[in-house]
Amino acid sequence: MTFQRGPLRGDVRVAGDKSISHRALIVAAAANGTSTVARPNRGADVLATRDAIAALGAHVDDRGATMVVTGGTLRSPATTIDARNSGTTARLLLGLCAGHGIVATFDGDESLRRRPMERVARPLRAMGARVDTDGGRLPATVRGVIAPPGGTFELDVASAQVKSAILLAHLDARALVRVSGDAFSRDHTEIMLRRFGRIVRFDGRSVELEPGSLVAQTVRIPGDLSGAAFFLAAAAITPGSDVILREVGTNATRTGILDALRAMGADLTVTNQRTLDGEPVADISVRYRPLCATTLAGELVVRAIDEITLLAVVAAHADGTTRIRDAADLRAKESDRLAVIAQTLRACGVVVEELADGLDITGGSARVPDAALRTRDDHRIAMAAATLAAPVGPHEIDDAACIAVSFPDFIPLWEAAQATCR
Ligand code: S3P
Repeated sequence: MTFQRGPLRGDVRVAGDKSISHRALIVAAAANGTSTVARPNRGADVLATRDAIAALGAHVDDRGATMVVTGGTLRSPATTIDARNSGTTARLLLGLCAGHGIVATFDGDESLRRRPMERVARPLRAMGARVDTDGGRLPATVRGVIAPPGGTFELDVASAQVKSAILLAHLDARALVRVSGDAFSRDHTEIMLRRFGRIVRFDGRSVELEPGSLVAQTVRIPGDLSGAAFFLAAAAITPGSDVILREVGTNATRTGILDALRAMGADLTVTNQRTLDGEPVADISVRYRPLCATTLAGELVVRAIDEITLLAVVAAHADGTTRIRDAADLRAKESDRLAVIAQTLRACGVVVEELADGLDITGGSARVPDAALRTRDDHRIAMAAATLAAPVGPHEIDDAACIAVSFPDFIPLWEAAQATCR
């Protein structure tokens, strides 16, 4: 597949947020009664969660634009649950099973089998569940407990997936559960649990979940900022661009990409801010303007964890050297994203230095069109290649199929935004 050179213009409505879609389905599966999830992300990751909650005893009526879930009847599955490429499916559901007396084995594709699972197994063991991993990785078998005692958990890695696994493991806890040590990772689980009637306190230092029950809901899913980000970034670096992304999630735990683009001088406007079923949303527009280098480190990296590779692409078009630090966890994503984006940028002529926890990227060095880029089966690397091609393309990627993991309609929406300019 070839991504063309050219600016992006017009109105774009991206897929539903992937993280929020997973949580809506999982919490609906735990809640008594029938819930409706409207405009869910329909990427392969969320479909893995849909199929997994069905295997765990929820009734799922997938009507396309909505998924109707009847929950409250969780049970041990008959066969191994295949989380496919989805870390969120495996980690959050290991947590759910650990606190609902469920015995289940989780497995995944080659990429997911390489990713660390001990970070979630450790706290689940501490609450009394048995979790056997294959050397810290999938396949993993959980033997859950019923009505765990509650208590305090200190995270040793800033991970929304681990925090969420602990919260979901304590939906039926007898007493309060507190999770601390992670101030900046996404708080969609906390917001979803509130939406389903639970008392959850989170103040940026810790999360507390009170004992209680869940009440079935209708939940509308905002547009995925992590999908919109490719359009925003391409518009920011490609002369002649002017795009508006409609009804995109702007939860502060996710907006590191917007803060970073602003710090680089992007012409970015956020309008029509409102709340959609507990989550902040807005319309975001970007017009091309020359950018300057920046430093990305600390909490900004956590709040832009899935957009760091994309910001590396933007940095290749910004004046000066951009420094990325504190991003070692990117090596444990769908691919080793620090290594893969460094190779991708170098194939386009960009001068990049790779460090253990980051990159130094020399701006203005992306001058090679017609690069042949390898995605390593990582959806975000494939879409970053489209962004790379917009100012200095075309570029070819070896595999576009992986994009369907998070954003099945990406290519037609991208081509339409470029066609608007012709
Ligand atoms: C996610 C959390 C992040 C992110 C992933 C989705 C989630 O992972 O990279 O794509 O939905 O909770 P970590 O929480 O492990 O950093």
